[in-house]
Amino acid sequence: MRILLFSGKGGVGKTSVAAATGVKLAERGYRTLVMSVDPAHSLADSFDLPGDLFHGRTGEPMAVADRLSIQEVNIQREIKVHWDAISSYITSLLRTSGISAVEAEEMAIFPGMEELSALMYVTQYRRTQQFDVVILDCAPTAESLRFVSLPTTLDWYMKHVFSFERKLLRAIRPIANRVAPVEMPKDEYFQNIADLFGKIEGVDKLLEDANITSVRLVTNAEKMVLRETQRAFVYFSLHGLTVDQVIVNRLFPAEVHDEFFSDWRALQQKTLAEIEAYFSPIAVSKVPLFRHEVLGLDRLREFASVLYSSGEDPAAVTRTERPYSFVREGEQYQVRLRMPFTEKREIGLFKKNDELVVEVGTLRRHIGLPTTMAAMHPSKARMEHDVLVVEMRS
Ligand SMILES: Nc1ncnc2c1ncn2[C@@H]1O[C@H](COP(=O)(O)OP(=O)(O)O)[C@@H](O)[C@H]1O
Ligand SMILES: [Mg+2]
Repeated sequence: MRILLFSGKGGVGKTSVAAATGVKLAERGYRTLVMSVDPAHSLADSFDLPGDLFHGRTGEPMAVADRLSIQEVNIQREIKVHWDAISSYITSLLRTSGISAVEAEEMAIFPGMEELSALMYVTQYRRTQQFDVVILDCAPTAESLRFVSLPTTLDWYMKHVFSFERKLLRAIRPIANRVAPVEMPKDEYFQNIADLFGKIEGVDKLLEDANITSVRLVTNAEKMVLRETQRAFVYFSLHGLTVDQVIVNRLFPAEVHDEFFSDWRALQQKTLAEIEAYFSPIAVSKVPLFRHEVLGLDRLREFASVLYSSGEDPAAVTRTERPYSFVREGEQYQVRLRMPFTEKREIGLFKKNDELVVEVGTLRRHIGLPTTMAAMHPSKARMEHDVLVVEMRS
């Protein structure tokens, strides 16, 4: 099963690109699912389905054409029940604050349920082999990052918080319930989170395998949108995902000659040239602004025929370069992270347990080190072109 993840700033055309790609893949014979992970769902609208037919229905994929289904992920009720229990527990933990500030901070970033349900579906479809391609129509950039960082965050929870707390609480609950300022969590809370975790186990491997998952960034040829696209590129790389295509949408078509648009067109051309230079060798595809909204199967088909005009297969694997690697050069051990558009001073590095923690801006990634490096510490870091090289010493 292939996973194609479309991300980008709000309104750039993610849903249109995701839906059109789905239409194309289904026509090529792939059993395809387009899944909306954006809480502000607009996938059904893109297919021009009547709202009352689709919106508010939870869960199940719905067929919209031969071999093509769509699904708008909604929070599953029973998961929500688990979630309430877990989040109230976390809140109470934070309030009693027997934990260190760093841990409290980590807990505060515990991510959303929409993403968790979507990841459960991804693992489920992978298991059932129901689809050849699953397309994820993501929420704007920040939320999509929460989506891809969820497996590592949950893993971190299981390893560092839940297993320990659980053992501790078993021992102290009989007394603690009498003296603690908050109710201690019941044992089934831990069972619930363990079950949740079990349901998405292995999904991080799927997301980080470039032969399975590709990230495609949708953008417009405007400076501000471009900046967000560059940041998204860095953050996805930091999370170990491979970006294999940039799609520039809504370019003013050549046949528009109105004087009013001439500055706009010049600006778009300039930004487009920058995009191609920045992201090279990653493929940059172009889609013009159409005369009309992209609504319904016919328009999506038209959109797809422009987007994939050279007859390429949207499911093809074109890039497998991993964004980070662990290498040994002679006596020296290194962690190498591909981080274009990033200045060294924006990057924070530290070691925690057997993980290397990398911070860029407000984003943080725990990178599990291989056993050979687990006991080492980062001693030096430098940028080599696009690559951050971290030297590890024992
Ligand atoms: N190339 C285009 N030409 C004309 N309209 C477009 C184009 N791309 C997207 N649209 C329209 O712009 C609106 C926003 O697009 P959408 O795909 O929903 O963006 P996003 O999912 O990024 O928020 C929709 O009404 C869509 O039909
Ligand atoms: Mg959308």
